[in-house]
Amino acid sequence: MPNESSIIFKERLDLGELVTFTPNKKRPIHNWFYFKEGFSRDLIEYLISRTNKDITVLDPFMGVGTTPLTCRELGFRSIGIEVNPFFYFIAKAKTHIYNAGEIKKWIKWISNKKYRPVDIKQLPPIVKKAFNPHNLKDIVFFKKIIKEVDDDQARDFLMMGLINAASKVTYAYKDGAIIKFRKKPTPPFRRFYIRTLKKMLRDIEEVRLRNVEMKLFLGDARRMDMIGDDSIDIVITSPPYLNKIEYTKVYEIETALFLGKERIVPLRSYIGLLHRKNYTNLPIDISDMPKSAQAYLYDLWLVIRELYRVVKEGGVVYLIVAEGLYRDRKVPVDELLAKIAEAEGFQNIEIWVVNKRLVTINRTIKLGVARESIIKMDK
Ligand SMILES: C[S@@+](CC[C@H](N)C(=O)[O-])C[C@H]1O[C@@H](n2cnc3c(N)ncnc32)[C@H](O)[C@@H]1O
Repeated sequence: MPNESSIIFKERLDLGELVTFTPNKKRPIHNWFYFKEGFSRDLIEYLISRTNKDITVLDPFMGVGTTPLTCRELGFRSIGIEVNPFFYFIAKAKTHIYNAGEIKKWIKWISNKKYRPVDIKQLPPIVKKAFNPHNLKDIVFFKKIIKEVDDDQARDFLMMGLINAASKVTYAYKDGAIIKFRKKPTPPFRRFYIRTLKKMLRDIEEVRLRNVEMKLFLGDARRMDMIGDDSIDIVITSPPYLNKIEYTKVYEIETALFLGKERIVPLRSYIGLLHRKNYTNLPIDISDMPKSAQAYLYDLWLVIRELYRVVKEGGVVYLIVAEGLYRDRKVPVDELLAKIAEAEGFQNIEIWVVNKRLVTINRTIKLGVARESIIKMDK
């Protein structure tokens, strides 16, 4: 007879804000790019600050790098994996240990560059719609100049600054999963860009990142071949949420403008987007679920198995997830993943409910309340 499940629920609404990106808006470096789907530096600090420093922290869905950046601030070793090259670039650019003196010279170098006309005709319509044409020409001009820089760190810093400044002058904004446009007055881009770089320079002077080991990979969390067995002490990670798996569309403008060839990653590389014929090998029965929930849970099962392999005996995993809501039903993602994790060998599983959100369609039709939770589990 199978053992009785011992999964415990706890209400931890005090952690509600920490699982959002909001606290990062005031944090130097973390605020170089606003990532609505990210969590906060304070969450990482809360979860690891009392442990001994000689540990390795893994985030296999690292997004824009909140986890590795916080680890470098606090002095912990870290590993990050991200499938999307645009987010991967931002994580890399935010976590370099820059030489502020060198960066200062590069800012001077770029501010002295004379504008040369550029052609923006070939850009996709959505990009042209997102900017005032003068600003867009400036952005494309600087992008070309930056590509010529042969110092890797300087190039990443200048490009990060360009992305940062462009995100402040764009007409585009994200309304849930939809991109909308609103024209607004914007400052002349060139000066604004240089101001942004100088502000970022102050940030790297103020925040002294520690030279602890950090490895970032462009890769897939379902196949962590780059990570050895039993090598990780703590995992803190937040996969895409069931109702919000599609980030490629929402960040279409940024990717089209700032990435070149490397932007083509097959969609099936993203969690939940590869639909299979059957899902019978899973340790729980999900056959009556909507197809998209089945694909999602299957992929996270693969991730949980990988986590069990790479985490050390005595290690801990914190998985941040949310329930999925459909018109006719709710999918309790936290509970289902906890059961899968238990079947794969994880123990002492707790579900900390950190938020309860009212979910609507088109802002009016109420779908219900979705739980956002941290699943804590030990190996
Ligand atoms: C909720 S976000 C994580 C945000 C992160 N905690 C932060 O603060 O920036 C989920 C991330 O998982 C990435 N992702 C989706 N499928 C993936 C996969 N198969 N392997 C690795 N990353 C993936 C998405 O591109 C997205 O950046």
